[in-house]
Amino acid sequence: MTTRRTFLGGMAVTGIAAGTAAQAAAPRATIVSTWDFGAAANAAGYAKMRAGGSLLDVVEAAAMVPEADPENHSVGYGGYPDRDGHVTLDAVIMDDAGGVGAVAALEDTVHAISVARRVMDKTPHTLLVGEGATRFARDQGFPKVDLLTPPAEQAWREWLKTSQYKPEANVENKRGPHAGPRGGALDHDTIGLLACDVLGRMAGACTTSGMAFKMRGRVGDSPQVGAGLYVERGVGGATSTGLGEEVTRVSGSARVVASLRAGLSPQRACEEVVRHIAQLRGDAIKGVQVGFLALSPRGEVGAFCLLPGFTYAVTDASGATVVLKAPSLFAA
Ligand code: GLY
Repeated sequence: MTTRRTFLGGMAVTGIAAGTAAQAAAPRATIVSTWDFGAAANAAGYAKMRAGGSLLDVVEAAAMVPEADPENHSVGYGGYPDRDGHVTLDAVIMDDAGGVGAVAALEDTVHAISVARRVMDKTPHTLLVGEGATRFARDQGFPKVDLLTPPAEQAWREWLKTSQYKPEANVENKRGPHAGPRGGALDHDTIGLLACDVLGRMAGACTTSGMAFKMRGRVGDSPQVGAGLYVERGVGGATSTGLGEEVTRVSGSARVVASLRAGLSPQRACEEVVRHIAQLRGDAIKGVQVGFLALSPRGEVGAFCLLPGFTYAVTDASGATVVLKAPSLFAA
């Protein structure tokens, strides 16, 4: 088990080395997450770490914060529904020893990340979907909760007036977080989390309600190992946010980790995959946002995105958190 001592290692951490190559041999305990709402998640993860939780406990506790927040319309309770009015959740959790659990199209359950962890801990499988995932959640004692809050229902009914199936790109940049119905980062996005301890061990988590008003049955990048999240011992981890289809088609997070394995820094590895998506997709990704966040086992952080507006939160071993803007490939 990762104890507070092993996470902190008694080290003084003197700064965030966002986007830099390896500078120090010694790992620095670090928690990173996507978007500015990741700061509150990181705080919960840090508290779990201080209490002696494992790295899986840390990322699970962190992911549970936006899942329980009704103001967050892209994750968990209060998430925007699919085009038929059902809120469906996707989540994955992963350690650096091949441990994986995931759920997709989970309904009536607030903490998709905890159900994903149960898949990892209690079943021989890595992914449960739809009705089977929801039944598993009930069997495991997770309470049945109607996830469709009045504001989310109102936004859905508003959308039904036109029913345009056109993902609104980079809404977080246009309107800022925590805007009203159908506005802000919370229309469609994801929390992806990565954590490492002072021994260089790692874990990650990713959880979302997916694209607002998606087709019923649509599953994005988030719960798919290698797309929304990937972690490899001794190499590093990556997670993604934005339009999931563009991440899934290139196995984005696995590609970032492959670049880390080949010797790129977390920053360069994120840049490589974003440039690859842009080159591969050309005009098809015009106005689309995709962002990647990467962490090395030594606590080095990288982030890059297609369009301006992707932010991420970094918490160091002292508990200090900074929210940073990721550089982007395009100006707008
Ligand atoms: N990135 C989350 C999704 O597309 O569902």
